[in-house]
Amino acid sequence: MQRAQQHIFLTGFMGSGKSTLGKNLAGLLQLNFIDLDNYIETHEKKSITLIFEQQGENSFRKIESTCLLEVLDVQQPSVIALGGGTICFGNNLAQVKNAGLLVYLELSAADLAIRLKNNLSERPLLKNVNTEELVTNIAGKLSDREIFYRQAHLIVNGSNLSVQTLQQKIIDFKNENSPI
Ligand code: S3P
Repeated sequence: MQRAQQHIFLTGFMGSGKSTLGKNLAGLLQLNFIDLDNYIETHEKKSITLIFEQQGENSFRKIESTCLLEVLDVQQPSVIALGGGTICFGNNLAQVKNAGLLVYLELSAADLAIRLKNNLSERPLLKNVNTEELVTNIAGKLSDREIFYRQAHLIVNGSNLSVQTLQQKIIDFKNENSPI
């Protein structure tokens, strides 16, 4: 089956606002919304935290890639909030870029730490990190991941980003890059 090519994907570190902005953007654009983390939890009938605890990160990444492929097959044009690590594993980045517009919500490690510090226990990859080491820990992970994030079609500063500004940046990008 031929894939719809016009999805909008949001990527970025945990806490960058992918799910909230994604849901609001889908509302504005009247598109379907899919949150990949929620899709995985429904598919596996367990929380992401439990998948990490019981099966480990490697199994989670396999499940994540399988679920991503299923989501890419959705024919209805959709806004899709990816997990923070999705495009950093396997062939996921290429698959995503081939299926639509990939937007990176960029935030500094310091800004991300402020957003994440009160709910670290919900994040399997950060749950054992002390608050004092949080910025350094995030900065390390970010620098490993930036090589993937920076391959997005569009990079948007995510601090104080309103859904209207995000929408406008996507419209501008599409206008600048559409064939005449
Ligand atoms: C992860 C981010 C999480 C979730 C999982 C792994 C990551 O999603 O997929 O805990 O590797 O950065 P959010 O970015 O939506 O928190």
